[in-house]
Amino acid sequence: MVTAMDTSFYIDRRNRLAATIGPGSIAIIPTAPERPRNRDSDYLYRHDSYFYYLTGFTEPNAWLVLDGSGHSTLLCAPKDLEREIWDGHRLGPEAAPEALGVDEAFSVAELDAKLPRLLENRSAVWYPFATHKGLESRIDGWLSSVRARVRFGALCPETQRDLCGPLDEMRLVKDAHEIDILRRAGKISAQAHVRAMQTSARMLREGRDLREYHLDAELMHEFRMGGSQYPAYASIVAAGANACVLHYHADAAPVRAGELVLIDAGCELDGYASDITRTFPANGKFTGPQRVLYDIVLQSQYAAVAATQAGNRFTDPHDAAVKVLAQGMLDVGLLDANKVGSLEDVIEQRAYFPFYMHRTGHWMGMDVHDCGSYVEPTQVGEVHERKDPLSGETVKNRPSRILRPGMVLTIEPGIYVRPGEGVPEQFHNIGIRIEDDAIVTADGCELITRDVPVDGDEIEALMR
Ligand code: GLY
Ligand code: MN
Ligand code: MN
Repeated sequence: MVTAMDTSFYIDRRNRLAATIGPGSIAIIPTAPERPRNRDSDYLYRHDSYFYYLTGFTEPNAWLVLDGSGHSTLLCAPKDLEREIWDGHRLGPEAAPEALGVDEAFSVAELDAKLPRLLENRSAVWYPFATHKGLESRIDGWLSSVRARVRFGALCPETQRDLCGPLDEMRLVKDAHEIDILRRAGKISAQAHVRAMQTSARMLREGRDLREYHLDAELMHEFRMGGSQYPAYASIVAAGANACVLHYHADAAPVRAGELVLIDAGCELDGYASDITRTFPANGKFTGPQRVLYDIVLQSQYAAVAATQAGNRFTDPHDAAVKVLAQGMLDVGLLDANKVGSLEDVIEQRAYFPFYMHRTGHWMGMDVHDCGSYVEPTQVGEVHERKDPLSGETVKNRPSRILRPGMVLTIEPGIYVRPGEGVPEQFHNIGIRIEDDAIVTADGCELITRDVPVDGDEIEALMR
């Protein structure tokens, strides 16, 4: 049975977008295509995030057309009993206005007939640039049809504009509906990490052959048991030295007592991602050197969390984390002060880079790496050029985004130690990252993924 959806959030978003593009404009937003995997099998279907944000509609083969007065037209797959026997239920254009709160709906078979009429007499057409393969040429075709009718008095839009700009700005600040789903996604994912940690310790205690894919299976079990549709991205389950490969995927490597396991995995729930990393000792007990580095990363995460609040810049958590990480690297001899100088020198010269080479966070929402500009829109013109100390290239810096309540970002510092000259052997092949998802609030942030512990002692207790 299909339960009725609350359409108010989608109607509100469409109205806000319409007000932004203004009267005289029209916006065209297709959903994602189905993609073949091999012969008769498609990849698991995932709707387009922009389209879903404005409709809540998850079927393929659908388009939304929204005009600047707020009038919405949906084009979707028509009812077809034979196809529905094979592919499942279709909403169909007759039921769409009631179910989705759109003003009118037609069969997608009418797309090429309807679109020129909808584009006629508009001043500007908006669509997401460089997002949907072939969209530009389809719009060109519809505009040509409009032009063919100018002698009958039709006006053809003279401007084409990128809809990603206004939509990205809207998506950057999450509304109550989105926050609710993100919180629930974070809880399911945290539970999955707990389950993987406990399974790891238990299977090793029982003397069983433990592989990375066993832990991947535990994550998937918990995601699906929690009602999530699929992982938000390919899960990373990296045993031992594999943790130093940033984009490693869960593979078949053995998970051994005495090594760390790094798991970076999060579910997608009703179109919204979560993104958690935990690093834990496979058998539930940190070694001395592992714990030393773990605690540096943990302290750096605490510092980044403390810097995550409205009014601060997006880069402030990163800068706070780097300060703690760099000092820790000096303290434990990963960096030699005689060679790299003081803490300030290490930060200035980015000497920490061999052990910490990624940013401390990214926006998160419907997409795990969500849309939204990292530059403060009111300050895009303020460009500071500087020479990057590592690459020697000239980099243009613009003031980083000022955080506002309702923005959602990850906080994910790490340390990755590949063997190398002068690198203390006790730290070789240790890779650690700790990642949580944060909702920015007026005076701090809400961590929505802390149902799985980060404290070293608490992790050991959980795994006992
Ligand atoms: N899991 C992707 C990331 O952490 O950015
Ligand atoms: Mn992340
Ligand atoms: Mn991650």
